[in-house]
Amino acid sequence: MPFTDSIEWHESLPSTMQTARDRALAGAPQGLVITAREQTAGRGRLGRTWSSPKGGLWFSLVLRPPLPPEKLGLLGLAFGVAAADTLIQITGLPMALKWPNDLYLSQRKLGGFLLESHLQSDRVEFVILGLGLNVNIPADSFPAELRPQATSLLIETAHEYSPESLLRAILDAAEGRYAAAIAPIVARWNELDAARGRPLRVQYEGHGVEGTAAGLSPDGALLVETPSGQIALHSGEVQWL
Ligand code: BTN
Repeated sequence: MPFTDSIEWHESLPSTMQTARDRALAGAPQGLVITAREQTAGRGRLGRTWSSPKGGLWFSLVLRPPLPPEKLGLLGLAFGVAAADTLIQITGLPMALKWPNDLYLSQRKLGGFLLESHLQSDRVEFVILGLGLNVNIPADSFPAELRPQATSLLIETAHEYSPESLLRAILDAAEGRYAAAIAPIVARWNELDAARGRPLRVQYEGHGVEGTAAGLSPDGALLVETPSGQIALHSGEVQWL
């Protein structure tokens, strides 16, 4: 599913990370985006809180990457590059990245990423990628202790930007980077695939589906031809028939 196809906008949430995680645990597919106008318990890296007043772009994306856990750091980098490039294109401002997960402008923090993964016996079940971007936030909306280190697009440009348009542009760029990062792995997997053309049964989300394996989709989902058409499965347990 394209990353811009399923975007949920909420007025206020404790944290989009938590809502996206709950949805993923309930089986939400890759590409679901949870966005909140404000967060009341925004989370930063290393257990820090993340100030998330109205005017910012606060969202989390559900991913189900066919990657081993040690490769997940790359996803964060790909996402950072996609966001920085998009913002350079839209604002013309010289964005910079600070390893691992910070977006900088004028040597102040403009935004940050958070990557939370959910593993099942060493396999990546899903990843939640969060981005917080200080868009239309005046200086006095930041907590006093953050003011010397934080900035926003409004502070830097005296212009307001549409969070919706920024979100769509960042998601489009992120999807391109994601597909490019995953493509060689999916291509090689398809060469080695033991299941292709075989009848199988896949147990997922509490029920089973029977069909014939048809390889992996570009985003790493298992494609199964069933009597009612082709379906793409992002998780599940495969049994040969
Ligand atoms: C950091 O730099 O510490 C990472 C900050 C990540 C903040 C975003 S805002 C949207 C999503 N929901 C959260 O609670 N955190 C991330």
